Amino acid sequence: MTNVILLGPPGAGKGTQAKRLVEERGMVQLSTGDMLRDAKASGSEMGRKVAEVMDRGELVTDEIVIGLIRERLAEGGKGYIFDGFPRTLKQADALGELLSQMGQGLDAVIEMQVDDAALVARITGRFTCGNCGAVYHDRTHPTKVAGVCDVCGSHDLKRRADDTEDALRFRLMEYYKKTSPLVGYYYAKGKLSGVDGLAPVETVAAAVAKVIDGK
Ligand code: AP5
Repeated sequence: MTNVILLGPPGAGKGTQAKRLVEERGMVQLSTGDMLRDAKASGSEMGRKVAEVMDRGELVTDEIVIGLIRERLAEGGKGYIFDGFPRTLKQADALGELLSQMGQGLDAVIEMQVDDAALVARITGRFTCGNCGAVYHDRTHPTKVAGVCDVCGSHDLKRRADDTEDALRFRLMEYYKKTSPLVGYYYAKGKLSGVDGLAPVETVAAAVAKVIDGK
């Protein structure tokens, strides 16, 4: 089994590709965004603490997200797709340590390369299934029947509070300031591969598969 990071700005397609890897390879998706949204929805103390920060498009503290990943990795297993984590150099160092404590390592870091102009259209058109997490888009990937999830039949289709143009601008700034240095960090470790994230979903999936199978 393989441990992979999907790295890229908001809307690059990390979640879309992670879900395919779960279906096709039985890998485990660890999305810190999903974990934080679950905490927010549960109304827990931590959820209340992170809600405003997330809705503004800012990063949540390293301590909180590293804690979430630590808990999840402690449950054991192998073959993880890290989706939206790490996002800072501190998180990257912490992930390296956690994996090495488990006798594991990182096999690949896949940078999903996109340009900012495409991201606004992707993010403002996105909606997801609240039941199974399937990801859709108003124009490029609508549901077959309006209002009904293709995968699980749920009617609980929703949009994220941070999927507005204003919050996206903030999320992009956070990405370039705090997350993009990870490209050089993983390049220096010999782990980085780039894929064209602007290509159609199937083409991106084939490129991601090629990187993983080449490891
Ligand atoms: P998170 O949930 O991780 O959001 P994100 O990184 O901003 O990424 P997105 O989920 O928006 O995009 P994606 O790349 O998964 O794209 P998707 O596949 O959905 O984080 C949210 C917030 O949580 C952060 O802002 C922060 O506050 C907090 N947070 C999370 N992790 C954190 C951490 N580690 N540290 C600190 N804070 C953290 O695709 C988008 C749309 O495009 C969809 O509609 C899809 O259908 C479409 N699409 C996808 N691929 C293609 C394609 N190839 N062609 C055409 N359309 C496509």
